[in-house]
Amino acid sequence: MFNREKSQPIFDRALSVLVKGVSSNFRYLGKDETPIISRGKGARMWDADGNEFIDYRLGWGPIILGHADDRVNQAVAAAIENGITFAATTELEVDVAEKIKEMVPGMEKLRFTNTGTEATMHALRTARGYTNKEKFIKFEGQYHGAHDYVLFSTASSPVSALGERSAPTPAQVGSGIPDKIRDYVYCLPFNDFDAVEQCIKNHHGEVAALFVEPCLGNIAGIEPNNGFLIHLRSLCDKYGIVLVFDEVKTGFRLANGGAREAYGVIPDISTYAKSLGNGFPVAAFGGNKDVMNVVGGGNVTHAGTFGGNGLSMAAAKAVLDILTASPVLDNLARRGERLKAGLDQILTEANLPHQMTGHPNIQSFLITENPVKEVRDFSHTDEEMYEKILTHLYHLGVWAEGDSREPWFLCESHSNEIIDETLNKFQEAVKRTLDK
Ligand SMILES: Cc1ncc(COP(=O)(O)O)c(C=O)c1O
Repeated sequence: MFNREKSQPIFDRALSVLVKGVSSNFRYLGKDETPIISRGKGARMWDADGNEFIDYRLGWGPIILGHADDRVNQAVAAAIENGITFAATTELEVDVAEKIKEMVPGMEKLRFTNTGTEATMHALRTARGYTNKEKFIKFEGQYHGAHDYVLFSTASSPVSALGERSAPTPAQVGSGIPDKIRDYVYCLPFNDFDAVEQCIKNHHGEVAALFVEPCLGNIAGIEPNNGFLIHLRSLCDKYGIVLVFDEVKTGFRLANGGAREAYGVIPDISTYAKSLGNGFPVAAFGGNKDVMNVVGGGNVTHAGTFGGNGLSMAAAKAVLDILTASPVLDNLARRGERLKAGLDQILTEANLPHQMTGHPNIQSFLITENPVKEVRDFSHTDEEMYEKILTHLYHLGVWAEGDSREPWFLCESHSNEIIDETLNKFQEAVKRTLDK
């Protein structure tokens, strides 16, 4: 166990003022275990007692360069001198929008928001406004934020709650969501060509949008089968449905142009957040100008006091300038491959049946001998064994999420040396798990 001499009293204070001592349900790890982080630099972070971690959670994805990146911090520090919130357009905001348009294939018009949740909420409303239809399709295991419409059959839903595979039922995530909202969503198994085709054939008259995380950023980074995203594109074209890529995790991470570039498929709208600001809160949604023009002009409401504020824009501009100045994400993918190959080798040598999953920049592994193509396949993975290995790894100072659904994220600061240090500790974690 870690020394918690300083952390525990802080967390005890947190428990008396923050519900469960945290600002997001998923951060609570127990009353005597929840960490208190005091700082991060590059790929490492430290808790209040000085315990050091190599970080593969990276705030659940946003840190694409490294914690406290000097280049981004300097840009933000300079920009905030000018004030940040004016309820008016700024040139900095225009610069960032132009840069996104230049980087993202097929991007024509966009709007800024502050969180991924706001971006997906507005994308759904835009699709509804454009089509004059109300329902939408999403895939099981995908998380599109914390607004009511999308909180069905997410990564948090037990597979047992999803209904029969041939007749899936949307599983509401938690209480507080009006039951009737279930009627607006179809939840389907990812990578199932026939299921989506059938659903669209049966219901296209009422479906405004099809939402997809192009690779499962909330389910071990599972990638689309060959042709799956193209299949979605052609079904949406044929039946007049707005195709929405939720790129909150994949955007500015898989490639400079995100999943659009990595998988070569252009949706009507995509949503961005996380890597766009390297940890500063900034998000966007945008795409085809005909669809996006219903915002405002077509009377679809999009609003937000802090949208396009100077702090977010300065951070985003700095991140995008860095990503385009040199092949940061390609180089990162090479180190991601090194990590993936190393983890694979260690698990193979330990005779643990496993599947490597995801893109090198957002990857994972699962303990199972069978292929994993969608969230229902988790029923044959050994989640307990995964968590045990990851718990040992955490105590050795490498922090990736213990829940096997959440992938490992890499950032520019994960050097070859840090990857090798991770692999040495991973080998020890596997050994400790199997010795027990
Ligand atoms: C794919 C995806 N969409 C949307 C969101 C919501 O983003 P935020 O937490 O910024 O509201 C998340 C958050 O993890 C996400 O992974």
